[in-house]
Amino acid sequence: MSSSVQAELVCFEASCRERFAITEVLYNCPKCGGLMEAAYSGTRPSAGELRDLFRQRRLSTAPLDTSGVWRYRELFPFMNDNAHVVTLREGNTPLLDGPLAAQYGGLDKITFKHQGFNPTGSFKDNGMTCGASQARRLGMKRVACVSTGNTSASMAAYAAAAGLEALIFLPHGNISFGKLAQALEYGARTLEVEANFDQILALVRVLAERLGIYLLNSMNPFRVEGQKSIVFEMLDQRDWNPPDWIVLPGGNLGNTSAFGKALREAHELGLIAKMPRLAVIQAEGAAPFHEMFHKGGELHAVTNPETLATAIRIGDPVSWPKALHEVRSSCGTVEKVTEQEIADAKAMIGRAGIGCEPASAATLAGIRKLTAAGVMRKDADVVAVLTGNVLKDPDYIYKYHTGKLETPSGVKIRSTFGNQPIVVPNDADRIAALLQ
Ligand code: F0G
Repeated sequence: MSSSVQAELVCFEASCRERFAITEVLYNCPKCGGLMEAAYSGTRPSAGELRDLFRQRRLSTAPLDTSGVWRYRELFPFMNDNAHVVTLREGNTPLLDGPLAAQYGGLDKITFKHQGFNPTGSFKDNGMTCGASQARRLGMKRVACVSTGNTSASMAAYAAAAGLEALIFLPHGNISFGKLAQALEYGARTLEVEANFDQILALVRVLAERLGIYLLNSMNPFRVEGQKSIVFEMLDQRDWNPPDWIVLPGGNLGNTSAFGKALREAHELGLIAKMPRLAVIQAEGAAPFHEMFHKGGELHAVTNPETLATAIRIGDPVSWPKALHEVRSSCGTVEKVTEQEIADAKAMIGRAGIGCEPASAATLAGIRKLTAAGVMRKDADVVAVLTGNVLKDPDYIYKYHTGKLETPSGVKIRSTFGNQPIVVPNDADRIAALLQ
């Protein structure tokens, strides 16, 4: 098996494509301001050799091989020395069938790729293992991120495991307690800023530059490299037989960028014969990408994004140029869904015995709209990516099922599939009577 690969950082803008060493600390191109991406040249093993290698590694007990990210390391070969790698055995997430959910979405069948089975309960771990490993390679001491909750939970865990100091910036009052609790438990210094995600990101960029802190938000190109493994693992689990559609929620659009890059690269390497279409679903109150995709022109930021799916409460997504390229080149689409649609789709995913956090349920809500509109065929082969665990936001669940959920502007959400707990006396006869 022959392989000799060079890795570089390259500006994503087609009109620039300026190149830099893979060890430079860059989030934007110093020449044109464009986003950066990792690019590889040289010879790599053949598609057949790679497929066999990935399968063989499932029998291995070596830490890197048991990670559902690093198992695919030939597909993101930026790391010079594996001793830098910090892994919590991330990835390894299942493909699950959900017949009830398929029916609700207007499909014959659906497959969920459930990233909530990750060590910190979200897809962020796939990217964070790479970002944290690169931080170690660069000799960084402190890492930072702004987050709607999952990035921070993940970064806190990986920083702790890597012996790095973690600094977290959160929009005060707008993240779920489950996610905040994780950051505290993993020992991160946690600052709750009285501003929204987009405002805090601008602030953190300034601070990172001034204080020499390594930023682990999704414009970090190594996070994107790691998140590609969500697609690689899914394809591997399907014997490299690509679906017709991959559906995912869109917030800051890092994941959309990663998925598109993964598909293009898998196609170029001959691992897959056709490209699936990407469908990105946004919450109605935070849908600037949807607006731009359908109306054209530049992205107009939403200044006051609002959604109960706080993970995707983002009005000015940083990675939109990459995401736009990826959705277009996959012949994909962008849809938006209401708070009620997210809440009901989420309950249906729960009823299928699967469960997920609110942002993840935007996928099924979007699928329901896309099948109704005839954009997605009823018999299409669809993989929906559930990005976060059901326990990330229990407050939302309890309120939905007990009829107490309201939108940020105070509109009541109907508990269409509500399931109220019943308080009963400590009395067998009365409980038996109730259950008969
Ligand atoms: N789903 C969940 C559960 C998320 O936490 C996020 C993003 C997304 C979807 C959207 O992914 O930003 O790549 O388009 N959460 C980030 C965070 C912003 O800070 O945890 P995206």
